[in-house]
Parts: sequence; structure tokens; C-alpha cells
Amino acid sequence: MPELQNQSEKKQQNGPSRRSTLGAIVMVLNLGVLASLAAPAVRFVLSPLSRRSKLKWVDVLGDDQLAEGETREVSYVIPIVDGYQTVERKYTVYLHRTPNGVKCFDPACTHLGCRITFQGDQQRYFCPCHGGVFDKEGKVVSGPPPTGLVQHPVKIERGRILIGRKV
Ligand code: FES
Repeated sequence: MPELQNQSEKKQQNGPSRRSTLGAIVMVLNLGVLASLAAPAVRFVLSPLSRRSKLKWVDVLGDDQLAEGETREVSYVIPIVDGYQTVERKYTVYLHRTPNGVKCFDPACTHLGCRITFQGDQQRYFCPCHGGVFDKEGKVVSGPPPTGLVQHPVKIERGRILIGRKV
């Protein structure tokens, strides 16, 4: 009888130890599952921090192809990372040469983003959506646009006009 009691005591001593070991294993497994579920969500939330846009210089025109006072529409194609793939996108800008250098205007109206067109006979940019008008320097002349046209950086290197685009 005392022997049985001894075995029972031993079992009681082993019981909690086995239980705590199993509990620890289950806890580690649960943490692993939780981490694997939480990792994509954390990566999604933090991804804008790792996607800082860089300025890319794009060759758009020969320096000798834009006379002083002239405004010219130019198009270019650049690769853009779109989700998991890289695609070629075509963009258009307006270049305008002043006595102080070349300006590059984005063709999106600053009111609601419609595409403006340059009217050479009137030396102005016109937005067909709500009648916004900008002068050839990109300043608002009339209509609802709250600010002048957005400008992109420009530099001239080895006889070529390059514009800076954030990609
Ligand atoms: S979008 Fe150009 S004036 Fe409204």
C-alpha cells in the first residue's frame, strides 16, 4: 500500500511538469500561428515607409528644339512599378522656354485634374472641364483652379532637356 501511495505521489509530481511542458509547446505553436497571420498585416501597414519615391531624370527633347518663348507638348515613356509588375507608362508635359530657362508644366488642371491644352494662338492653357485658364507661365488667369500649374524640375545636360519625375 505504501508503494502504491509512492507511485501516486510520483505521478502527481510528474503530472504538472508534463502539463507545463505541453502548455509551453502549445503556446509556442500559437505564437507561431499568430506571428504568421500578423506579419502580412504589419508589412502592409509599414509598406508606404519603404516605398519612398525617387526622382528619375527623363530625356524628353533636344535643347535646340525649343526656341525662346516657345511652348511645346512632349511625351515620354517610363517604366513604373505597379504592384507586382513593371509597366511602361506614357506621360505628357508642356515645356516652355523663358529667357531664364526651361519650365515644365504638368498637364493636369489644379482644379479637378482634367487635362489642359495649350492654345498657341492665345498663348494660354485652357481646361475644357470648367473653363480654367492659365497663362503661358502657368499662372491662373481665370476660372476655378486654386493654384497655378504644377511644375516638374528641369535640367539641361549635353544638349538635352531632362525633366525630373518621381517614380
Ligand atoms: S478641372 Fe480644370 S477648371 Fe475644373
